Amino acid sequence: MRAHQAFFERLAEEWDAAQSPARQERLRQLLSRFDNVWKESPLILDVGTGTGALLPLLRERAALTPIVAMDFAYAMLQRARERERFALMAQADVHHLPFPARTFGAIICHSSFPHFADKPAALSELKRTLRIGGRLIVMHDICRERVNAIHRSSAVTRCDLLPTGAEMEQMLLQAGFCEVQVQDCQAHFLAVGVSHV
Ligand SMILES: C[S@@+](CC[C@H](N)C(=O)[O-])C[C@H]1O[C@@H](n2cnc3c(N)ncnc32)[C@H](O)[C@@H]1O
Repeated sequence: MRAHQAFFERLAEEWDAAQSPARQERLRQLLSRFDNVWKESPLILDVGTGTGALLPLLRERAALTPIVAMDFAYAMLQRARERERFALMAQADVHHLPFPARTFGAIICHSSFPHFADKPAALSELKRTLRIGGRLIVMHDICRERVNAIHRSSAVTRCDLLPTGAEMEQMLLQAGFCEVQVQDCQAHFLAVGVSHV
């Protein structure tokens, strides 16, 4: 965990410059699929917010909904704060969330899920903090093969792999999520689960 945290603290400085200009529009399109989720949620959690790429886009879709931007890397959060003044920033590890049970109406993990060291434990912690009927969305704006190729290219992240669609579905069901849907296609990876308990 420490090696990962240190890795992302260092990456913060170069993260935005390394993203393709087309990414913003891809993210906008993907987020628009869940407009009902953003609008109906009283509070949104962005897990592994990084430099806050999603924050202005979420704001476009749900202008009045409060957002908590969470990351374990402080340098990432500093940049997210510069990007979006109105979100609440929280430095925390997804495996030990400093939030009470049933806090969020929607939780999004964009490009962060593969990095969670204990994925079943992280899912169970995320589910704990979702309200009844709340939705978890695991999103990647590129396909699984590309995500995994990028992660394999670095010594620190080489084991941080996105599971197959079938494996992801099983993980969500085992964590107790309902209405599970997974799209593992050439353009993106999306997994959604609803908390009913
Ligand atoms: C690849 S970056 C993606 C950032 C952002 N979501 C984006 O799409 O631009 C992954 C982020 O997840 C964070 N992260 C990884 N593991 C985490 C954990 N266990 N708890 C909290 N944040 C974590 C990292 O610090 C990093 O900022």
